[in-house]
Amino acid sequence: MSELVYLAQVDSTNLWCRQRIAQLSDGDAVYSSCQTKGRGRLGRSWENAPGSALYYSVVLKGDMADRACLPLAASLAVQQALRSCFGIETAIKWPNDLLLNGKKLVGILCEGLPDGIVCGIGVNLSQTAEFFRLAGLPYATSIAAETGRDPGPHAAEQLAQALSREFAPGGPLEVFRQWGLSPLLEKYQAACVNLGRTVTFDGGSGLARSVDSEGRLVVETAGGEQRVFTGEVHVGGIYGKL
Ligand code: BTN
Repeated sequence: MSELVYLAQVDSTNLWCRQRIAQLSDGDAVYSSCQTKGRGRLGRSWENAPGSALYYSVVLKGDMADRACLPLAASLAVQQALRSCFGIETAIKWPNDLLLNGKKLVGILCEGLPDGIVCGIGVNLSQTAEFFRLAGLPYATSIAAETGRDPGPHAAEQLAQALSREFAPGGPLEVFRQWGLSPLLEKYQAACVNLGRTVTFDGGSGLARSVDSEGRLVVETAGGEQRVFTGEVHVGGIYGKL
């Protein structure tokens, strides 16, 4: 049985797992609602909203057919946990932002280590629109800000438990662990807001056509097809981009 640890405050749940990776087992996780040094993708930081958000990290160990695609598979797992806990339907901005009504609700940061992977998930639960405005995050949102309903005092705990079920050894992610992204690709593409839109990436722009089985965004550019795997991708119509 995997462990789920609660911490009243932590610097970063990802860091906490990284520092203990040798002692932690597959599926072990930690969560908090107060994270003082949250880490984001591409070297950014992740805003702390004490008592209003979930900061969760899970350790994954053992064989995985395609580690590089974990961020995409994880976004589907988080999407399912949000659906089961709160009945909300999110979309995915490639590779792994979860959007609610076109704004960012969830960020995911997967960090690979020699003896495991730490998958960190930040979910905005009950911050107000004013909180995001003051934080300089006009394209971020929370469940409360979008639905008009506070998800309640136990939301972080409930969601952490649902996430741990998704990532548990032998759980729903098992198909991905064994076979990679291919069996999940149809579902991922159906949820991906990039597809059919103009995207701008480091090195070009064009129409996002699909996601391939290696998790790359397939973009039709003026100079031919390009497959994007890293970096920031801006999507027309999302986060205020044209
Ligand atoms: C992003 O930049 O979109 C990814 C943000 C990931 C934030 C989460 S919060 C829980 C875990 N701990 C961290 O320090 N970062 C991740």
